[in-house]
Amino acid sequence: MCGIVGYTGPREAYPIVIKGLKRLEYRGYDSTGVALLNGGLKVYKKKGRVADLEEFVVGADLHSHIGIGHTRWATHGEPNDRNAHPHTSASGKLAMIHNGIIENYAQIKKDLSKKGYSFTSDTDTEVLLNFIEDIKKNNECNLEEAVRIALKRITGAYCILLIDQDDPQTIIAARKGSPLVIGVGKGEHFLGSDASPMLEYTKEVVYVNDYELAIVRPDELILKNLGNETITPFITKLDMELAAIEKGGYDHFMLKEIFEQPSTIHDCLRGRLDAAHGIIRLSGVQNNIDAFKNAKRIMIVACGTSWHAGLVAEYIIEELCRIPVEVEYASEFRYRNPVINKGDIIIAISQSGETADTLVAIEKAKEQGAIIFGIVNAVGSSIARISHGGAYTHAGPEIGVASTKAFTGQLAVLTMMALKIAKENGTIPDERYTKLLFELESIPEKVEALLANATAIKVIAEKYKGANDALFLGRGYNFPIALEGALKLKEISYIHAEGYPAAEMKHGPIALVTETLPVVFVATKDSYHEKIVSNIQEIKARKGKVIAIITEGDEVIPGLADDVFFVPPADEIMAPMLSVIPLQLLSYYVGIAKGVDVDKPRNLAKSVTVE
Ligand code: F6R
Repeated sequence: MCGIVGYTGPREAYPIVIKGLKRLEYRGYDSTGVALLNGGLKVYKKKGRVADLEEFVVGADLHSHIGIGHTRWATHGEPNDRNAHPHTSASGKLAMIHNGIIENYAQIKKDLSKKGYSFTSDTDTEVLLNFIEDIKKNNECNLEEAVRIALKRITGAYCILLIDQDDPQTIIAARKGSPLVIGVGKGEHFLGSDASPMLEYTKEVVYVNDYELAIVRPDELILKNLGNETITPFITKLDMELAAIEKGGYDHFMLKEIFEQPSTIHDCLRGRLDAAHGIIRLSGVQNNIDAFKNAKRIMIVACGTSWHAGLVAEYIIEELCRIPVEVEYASEFRYRNPVINKGDIIIAISQSGETADTLVAIEKAKEQGAIIFGIVNAVGSSIARISHGGAYTHAGPEIGVASTKAFTGQLAVLTMMALKIAKENGTIPDERYTKLLFELESIPEKVEALLANATAIKVIAEKYKGANDALFLGRGYNFPIALEGALKLKEISYIHAEGYPAAEMKHGPIALVTETLPVVFVATKDSYHEKIVSNIQEIKARKGKVIAIITEGDEVIPGLADDVFFVPPADEIMAPMLSVIPLQLLSYYVGIAKGVDVDKPRNLAKSVTVE
């Protein structure tokens, strides 16, 4: 949520900052701005996307060897030129960008107003910047000290970058709750919300921790805590190539990421699943195996699509491991004073590893003695770092705002975990264990096979693109997939959609059924098949339009449904990894047919780092 970029070094800063902002646009795209130092401070900012800013600065003098840039997802103040970052201080000498929310900004603003400060924007960022400048003036201290004092007095979350006209080579940066990566080059440094802006310049990065402050100059990186103690920066080698963050010939990142799933699921299983020898290697689970074996219950916390993966996991873990599982929205869990017993296991699921609600939920649970297990896609992210153990999904950077390949990666990891724990606990018969391992191994191939038929979904999408509402129904393992299908359609096509357990439909949503309502059934062959066939009959009896995702060889549902899409046969535990893919495609193709910018749907941002 909000992307930030910085550069200090011998190169021209503006092109580096702009290119970095384009890569971080998935984090927010309400407005964009840059601040440069060339003689004096120059700030260019504009409502809209990075491309709008580029147009706006045509003809401007952009020469500078230092720069900070921001792409915004609005929190305080509507998206307009005034509220766009960077903000400048009252003296006009300081410029700052910010990702996060300063919760006590109103009181600080009141105090500063009494002292005669006036504000040009509605943002909390401008308040914090003037607060810093005021502290600098009153305490006669340097900027670094003023930032430290200010940060100790504010509440909320932040990642800030600041430049000062009087110190034209230095960027001061700090974080709490919002990500910050510093790329270390030769005589130059790069800063970003993630590592994508610096990929072609350096592979050496430092992930800054909460409550740390960095003083960044071309040939110097000083890291300190808020107590002014120096910390040795821990340099990590990036294992990511430029191709991973480019579209690679696809029209959109979302489509690329959907089609990457055979290889991303394969990458997730590689080196971990050895069906021939009956082995699952998950060091994160192995290192905590006693905790998993003795667990009285497992709680899963997550948001959005990751929460849907948690719901599938609830069914799988309870079925295979016989351990009670509760799945919670992180945003509710963090505020509702849940009962957490020492030794409870909390599984946090997150693509970005930075979702604020999930992060705070596990921080609280950790304080109360829970064991935190992270299932995360973004390597080195905050959730990965604060967890006691975990497993990466290895899906590679997910840039399309709607989560696709991360979801199937999460399901693959959760399935492996459940199988491993079940084997250790002796709650799964050997024969079933072996069968499921081979089943899991075959999933990438099956995904590939169903993607070969993607155009069939495009035809269905064309037929229903005019719908105002849609209902998604599923049972058992496919119930969370119905929720996920509805979420995808809402995000990417702006069609109102509801996901429901198919049997629950009779308790209310059936009132919506008319002959124009598309009802998508996720009805692959499983133990609920006969039941869901009855549910389809109930919709047809009321003239609803039925689109069904079914298993190859199903001879019943094609005779009932208006449109069908076949997926390869799979054990019901694995079916969600297949049945979700036509729904991802459906939302993509409907979105495209309606002219939606599917990689950047309105009001959304990829990484929700504010609560
Ligand atoms: C939906 C989507 C969101 C995320 C949610 C959690 O397509 O992308 O619902 O799943 O914001 O994000 P992570 O997984 O990064 O914690």
